[in-house]
Amino acid sequence: MNSPNNQVYPVIWHNNAVSLIDQTRLPNEYTFVEIHRSEDMARAIKTMIVRGAPAIGIAAAYGMYLGAREIETDKRDQFLQQLETVATMLRSTRPTAVNLFWAISRATQVAYETLGTVEDIRKALLETAQALQLEDLQTCQAIGDHGLKVLPNKPEKLTLLTHCNAGALATGGYGTALGVVRSAWREGRLNRLFADETRPRLQGAKLTTWECVQEGIPVTLITDSMAAHCMKQGLIDAVVVGADRIAANGDAANKIGTYSLALVSKAHDVPFYVAAPLSTIDFDLADGGGIPIEEREATEICHVGDTILTPTSGLDFYNPAFDVTPAELITAIMTENGVFAPADLLKARKSVIS
Ligand code: MRU
Repeated sequence: MNSPNNQVYPVIWHNNAVSLIDQTRLPNEYTFVEIHRSEDMARAIKTMIVRGAPAIGIAAAYGMYLGAREIETDKRDQFLQQLETVATMLRSTRPTAVNLFWAISRATQVAYETLGTVEDIRKALLETAQALQLEDLQTCQAIGDHGLKVLPNKPEKLTLLTHCNAGALATGGYGTALGVVRSAWREGRLNRLFADETRPRLQGAKLTTWECVQEGIPVTLITDSMAAHCMKQGLIDAVVVGADRIAANGDAANKIGTYSLALVSKAHDVPFYVAAPLSTIDFDLADGGGIPIEEREATEICHVGDTILTPTSGLDFYNPAFDVTPAELITAIMTENGVFAPADLLKARKSVIS
């Protein structure tokens, strides 16, 4: 179910239901899961059928519409009250990506502000989810193009490194970090992309490489622990990663392993960029210390597929899904409104308001 230009869309409104690319099955199977109910959308987000901060937000916005469709009352007050329950359920799925909370707040606000009947509110919620999806696609294209302008001038063809998957699959369909890679490829400025495999769920190995292969972008897969060695050999010109939540001071939460990548980038004098939409910036949080870090099940560490890697008892596991990269390790933050030093993030917000 790709677009005519073969672009990948992780969330599609189709036949009165939401189709999600099942990201737990890629790259072996390219299949869709059809979602009709808000509860199933919440499960799909939690189990990572759909994942990546902006894509989670889009999916949740559709979840709000599906929930609105399930509410049987025609009385506005009762309807809005029950819609709050749907919002609470969707909010409880994943704690770190602020886009989830942002998208649900936006849908809730639309519901309260829509005058007219309950049916009018339902219609407005569907339109909101669709608008959000389209906006995200345009936002990512702008991030890619702004980001490209600040990448190192030399060499002419750059070798970039990314972590996790911040691509079409994680967004409305172009990608944030991978959007910058796409823009560089389109403009003839990319030599190749190095992708970290991204333990434990292997989003880099499974999803980033899959996206690159679809488009013929040259990609080299490495394990996470190889990044420092590659930098020491001078193989990497810049690092570009996505984010799940950025605090007002520029501290950025992203997939576990991003922080160590930022440290080794600093040690090797390799510029380290974070590419993210403004909806990923949580201006209410002064710094990254307040970002909630999701902890996931031990099975993600002790299994690879159906194979158990570890002793089955007598040991403990700790599986934080994200870490926070301090602002001082970030060269710049690439947004749809331009590229900002972490300390200047407030200017990014002002450029939206004015
Ligand atoms: O756990 P995931 O796969 O949802 O984590 C995704 C990431 O960490 C991405 O880098 C981030 O959400 C940015 S996606 C444009």
